[in-house]
Amino acid sequence: SDISSLGDLTGKRVLVRSDLNVPLDGTDITDDGRIRASVPTIQQLSDAGARVVVTAHLGRPDGSPDPKYSLEPVVSRLSELLGRPVAFATDTVGASATETVAGLQDGDVAVLENVRFNDGETSKDDAVRGAFADQLAQLADAFVSDGFGVVHRKQASVYDVALRLPSAMGGLVAAEVDVLRRLTEQPERPYVVVLGGSKVSDKLGVIDNLIDKADKLLIGGGMVFTFLKAQGHEVGKSLLEADQLDTCTRYLTEAADRGVEIVLPSDVVVDTAFPSGDRQPEPRVVAASEIPADALGLDIGPESAAAFAAALADARTVFWNGPMGVFEVDAFAAGTRAVAEALTKVDGLSVVGGGDSAAAVRQLGFDEAAFGHISTGGGASLEFLEGKELPGIAVLERD
Ligand code: 3PG
Repeated sequence: SDISSLGDLTGKRVLVRSDLNVPLDGTDITDDGRIRASVPTIQQLSDAGARVVVTAHLGRPDGSPDPKYSLEPVVSRLSELLGRPVAFATDTVGASATETVAGLQDGDVAVLENVRFNDGETSKDDAVRGAFADQLAQLADAFVSDGFGVVHRKQASVYDVALRLPSAMGGLVAAEVDVLRRLTEQPERPYVVVLGGSKVSDKLGVIDNLIDKADKLLIGGGMVFTFLKAQGHEVGKSLLEADQLDTCTRYLTEAADRGVEIVLPSDVVVDTAFPSGDRQPEPRVVAASEIPADALGLDIGPESAAAFAAALADARTVFWNGPMGVFEVDAFAAGTRAVAEALTKVDGLSVVGGGDSAAAVRQLGFDEAAFGHISTGGGASLEFLEGKELPGIAVLERD
């Protein structure tokens, strides 16, 4: 149910779970996409006269306060984007939180300090999580779940609090669910899935679920070297998950049996070391079947980038998760750039999923509006496409 189901919000304290987990360099926000995506719901609640109490996490602290993971820099950015002051409580459910919430006027916005500074948030013990959720619930009259990036987490501020307050789905979560359902329920064909990123093991569930839904699976990024090795090629010093070789072999066979085309790069960009510090990259293009023993693959090559773009040209539905290479370094960004470029030209639904790929398209200077949808969820969008039940959605949709 959406926010309107909560009735008149004037003067009501509304707890909103947002995903404000942005990449930081010290206290500098390097990509504010998630903060921007969270603004419309916060604004909507404020406009409705609610006293808005935002709860969110940053990083993975160990369940106790750690200044490195303070939400303070995020609060400044949120305030700029909203164009209004935002109060900040220096704890999540303690004296500062209680006082801050009590001081709110209708339409005001406050952010509580990192919810993961409390061990109850992520506890596996239902009773411990529940006790913390009780404390969160005391701060509000209603709950709005708007942090799509965390709906796959059974955590107090995502799941348990929704059992304790009248709850609704925020517009961001609703929009994400709507688009991702279109990828899983009768997608228009051809349906092309592009996977990258470093690990095959992160993508097993999604490959399992999409191998009979997609028409083509294009694979790049660090994970591709395990596939190339499974095909019998040497991969030099490239990333390799030896324990996933059998799985990759099985996928290659299964795809062939089911008429799904798995497209691997025919060429790769290699260097003799992973980019770091002041060392100038020395990129070289080699055939994927001839990676030298002293080299490691850091991007797909130009021939592969063109082949991937061609495979995307007539697609009607595309899902892309994971960069094709080390896009943060210019010498190894061309593959990721080519895939992003090809997605902007798709005549149909193009979805960019995942924190890294979403950050990549912004960092490479693409206009977000050129994509059908850029998901704010990394793990959440993958688990959705794996066909798993997401606790943070299920709890809102229960009878
Ligand atoms: C993300 O970064 O994908 C979300 O914010 C969830 O973070 P988590 O993986 O630490 O739960």
